[in-house]
Amino acid sequence: MRQIGRCRAHTNIALIKYWGKRNNDLFLPMNSSLSLTLDAFYTDTSVTLDSNLEMDEFFLNGMKQDKDETKKISRFLDLFRQTANSDVHAKIESYNHVPTAAGLASSASAFAALAGAANTAWQLNLDKQTLSTYARRGSGSSTRSIYGGLVEWNMGEGDISESSYAIEIDDASWDIGMIVIAINKNKKKLSSRIGMKLTVDTSPFYPVWVTEAKNDLIAMKEAIKQKDFIKLGEITESNGMKMHATMLGATPPISYWEPDSVKAINKVKEIRNNGIPCYVTMDAGPNVKVLCRQSQMSDILDKLKESFTNDQLICSAVGEGIKQLTDTEWSY
Ligand code: ADP
Ligand code: DP6
Ligand code: CO
Repeated sequence: MRQIGRCRAHTNIALIKYWGKRNNDLFLPMNSSLSLTLDAFYTDTSVTLDSNLEMDEFFLNGMKQDKDETKKISRFLDLFRQTANSDVHAKIESYNHVPTAAGLASSASAFAALAGAANTAWQLNLDKQTLSTYARRGSGSSTRSIYGGLVEWNMGEGDISESSYAIEIDDASWDIGMIVIAINKNKKKLSSRIGMKLTVDTSPFYPVWVTEAKNDLIAMKEAIKQKDFIKLGEITESNGMKMHATMLGATPPISYWEPDSVKAINKVKEIRNNGIPCYVTMDAGPNVKVLCRQSQMSDILDKLKESFTNDQLICSAVGEGIKQLTDTEWSY
């Protein structure tokens, strides 16, 4: 038997962050979050079911991955095997068009693409909402990458896995874009998973973070309803900074920043003070993302070029949700 599924998913950058789980096994978050899907960064993944295989095989960017990485994927695919009542193994081939594990949300596009491909390979026909709950159990942020535009991941209730999924709340077609300032594309030393657990377990600021994130989400949804870009940007910047402040309170303190992250933040402030609205957010890595109006991107880019090289600056439009890839679209 050989059945194949191929899927593309784009990364997403949270404007209201997810940083902490209330249930580590089920990847249930402490707070709801909200993100923007990016067109410029994505993962393509194929899942080929093969009854001749004795275990799953996982290739990332053409390289066979070790036991530990493969085990993570196998455990995730077990969810699909259980649903399909199948015990067949798979060859997984994935290509990241985003730096891996550098704070640019590779885990988000990765598990959304894998979920989409597995859904097709096992012919499960799961709807997007269900797929979003499955993706979540590979990496929390991937819950949101099932959809395009502005996406909310609802925290759900108690320990009920099915209650925590994402929905597209706005297609973000009102002049929004994002510039990534790449400070360091290497693999981070502390994964998001471990970083957030340490923060939940040890930061005295953690309860305040949860309250703030909940209030920020309410205010941001109102700003989105009114298509108020300035409000959207202000809340984005403030929420991201509060997440990083909460991490600094952990024992040992956590910081993903590098000196050039601060340089980028200051440059964005300077551009803003000169009259162009643009706002920063950062994730679990030193790279800085700039939320801006798509129509003002090239002006902002000119200013950023005074401080950063061309290949450090990547512009992105708003991205779409997952899509199945045909044979001809699979170009590897
Ligand atoms: P990021 O900021 O890139 O999301 P994370 O620490 O959250 O960093 O996750 C990185 C991890 O996600 C990698 O170490 C790897 O285990 C997994 N990952 C990344 N890309 C893929 C992929 N295409 N397929 C499967 N797993 C992936
Ligand atoms: C800072 O989704 O990568 O990017 O669920 O443990 O895989 P796991 O973590 P992950 O965490 C993302 C954290 C963040 C904020 C966000 O994307 O909401
Ligand atoms: Co991640």
